[in-house]
This record gives sequence, structure tokens and C-alpha cells, in this order.
Amino acid sequence: MNIGTGSPDRQVYVGGEYVPENEARISVFDHVVLYGDAVYDTACAWGGKVFKLDEHVDRLFESAHALKIEVPLDKEGVREVVLELMRRNKLDNAYIKILVTRGVGRMPLMSPYNCAPNLIAFAIPYLSLTDSGVQDEGLRAGISSMRRIPSECLDSKIKCCNYLNHILMRMEANEAGLDEAIELDIGGYVAEAPGYNVFIAKQDVLYTPGENILVGVTRQTVIELAAAEGMDTVVGRLTAFDLYNADEVFLTSTAGGIFAVREVDGRTIGHGKPGPITQMLNQKYMELLESGVQSTPVYPSEGR
Ligand SMILES: Cc1ncc(COP(=O)(O)O)c(C=O)c1O
Repeated sequence: MNIGTGSPDRQVYVGGEYVPENEARISVFDHVVLYGDAVYDTACAWGGKVFKLDEHVDRLFESAHALKIEVPLDKEGVREVVLELMRRNKLDNAYIKILVTRGVGRMPLMSPYNCAPNLIAFAIPYLSLTDSGVQDEGLRAGISSMRRIPSECLDSKIKCCNYLNHILMRMEANEAGLDEAIELDIGGYVAEAPGYNVFIAKQDVLYTPGENILVGVTRQTVIELAAAEGMDTVVGRLTAFDLYNADEVFLTSTAGGIFAVREVDGRTIGHGKPGPITQMLNQKYMELLESGVQSTPVYPSEGR
């Protein structure tokens, strides 16, 4: 069943209650509809356990706080909504989204005050940003002609529901026959990709940008996994030249994990296929997800 077709079997959370997807309603006057005025976070579950749930909930609250949106539940309440959605939908491997909209105000005139925030959440079978064939072979990417909105205009650490900048860059790449866009910041340095953080590997050291990015949970996980293998990560500025001449380039995201990039702007990266460091980190990442060590069990009573 496609998403959005209104399945009566899928339970979602909206307006303080769990409802079948085909009964879920939000107001046309909600600021998320009118202005993209909302925050969200995406988590994933593997084998009946939600990976780094606390980190995702913390980031959601930080995004909301930065925008002065009050989350209708406390952190424990939000975590429980996620776990309950997993249980109600009988999911083991899942893609989870939690949104907090600014809600409906007194008039639809862009005033951010006196609105009633709305928590929306769903959990559906696990989804990846790219299909598995592309993931196995490596993505073909191109540097976008646009620039990522700088943090001086909208702090990139806020995971907000206005993704037009990313969507336009992805469209540009897809329409040029590429899998994904690489986003530069206003200064011409690599920032991220639509929905992913960017890494390069060069002579057994990892490099990743630190500015004008969403601080990804997977990015941090990769830094930790690399450190456990004795590999340093340098956080700093990267240019297109650095990508073209890297031994390996890869992208990280909750939606799918680690994705090798085999080509950037027609330049082959390394040997033009997923390299040994990317493969090793991907394997360690999957092992970590499966181990459940950094995850919250959904079905504790069954001992899963
Ligand atoms: C703009 C952007 N950058 C990076 C990421 C990767 O972050 P995470 O690893 O927490 O999924 C995302 C995830 O949705 C994103 O939207």
C-alpha cells in the first residue's frame, strides 16, 4: 500500500491521539501548511529496536526550542508515542517521522504567536533514500548550481519542515540523470547533500564539513565507528577539488545509512565503486543497528 493512500490499517499520531491513517486530519490553517513552519526528526528501527531514539528526540526538542515552538509532550511522552506507533503497526524495521507544527493561530497572517502546536508522528516499514541497486554500486552525484541556505539566514542545525532548497537541488541532479546533488555553501565549500551528510576518505583519514550542515545522527555514529577502528575524522572545510580527488566519498543518513558515491561531476572517485573504508563502516553501522546496543527496545516484554 502506497504512503498517503489512507490505509485504515496504519495507525498514525496526530492532535493528541492515535488514529487510522485515513482518519488523520490537520487544519488547512496550520502554519506547516501555510508557511512550512514546523520541525521534524526522522529515526529508524531495526529488529524491533529504535536506534538512538534519545538523540533524535533531543534534536527535535532543540529544533523546536530554536523556533520557539512548544512541543505538546515532554521527551518521555514523545518517546512513548514512537514506541507505541511501532507496536500498533507491528513493525520491526521502520522509518519513523515525528513533526511538531506551530499549529493554528488566530488569523492566517503569519503571526507565530498564540498558535497551538501539533505533534504528528508515523512509523512505516523501513525506507532508504536510494534503491538498493544504486546503494550497492555507488551513487552518481553532481555539485548543484544552487547554494545551501546559509546558517546566517536559517540555522542549518534546525531540522525544519521547509526543505525547498534541498528539493530543488535534488530535482536539478535527478533531471541531469544523476542520483544526488552535492550542496555547496555560499562560500563555495561543501556543506551536505539533500538529506545526507558528506564524508571523504583520503589516506585512511576521514574528513567531513562542520558548517552549514544539519548535525546528523548517522554522521556522529560514523565518526565514533571510525574512531573505534583507529581512524581519525577531521571536521573542516572541503572543496569540490577535495571530493574529486578523494580515495572515497560517502553520504550518511538515518534513511538508509551509508551510501558510497562513485562519481562527482563526471570525475570517477577512487576505483568508481564502493571503497574498502565505506564498506567497512557500512558493515560496522549495520552491526551496530542489529546489536541494539544504542537502541530502545519496542517490545521489551517479549525480550527482543
Ligand atoms: C539536510 C540533512 N542533512 C543531513 C541529514 C542526515 O542526518 P541524520 O544522519 O540524522 O539522518 C539529514 C537527515 O534527514 C538532512 O535532512
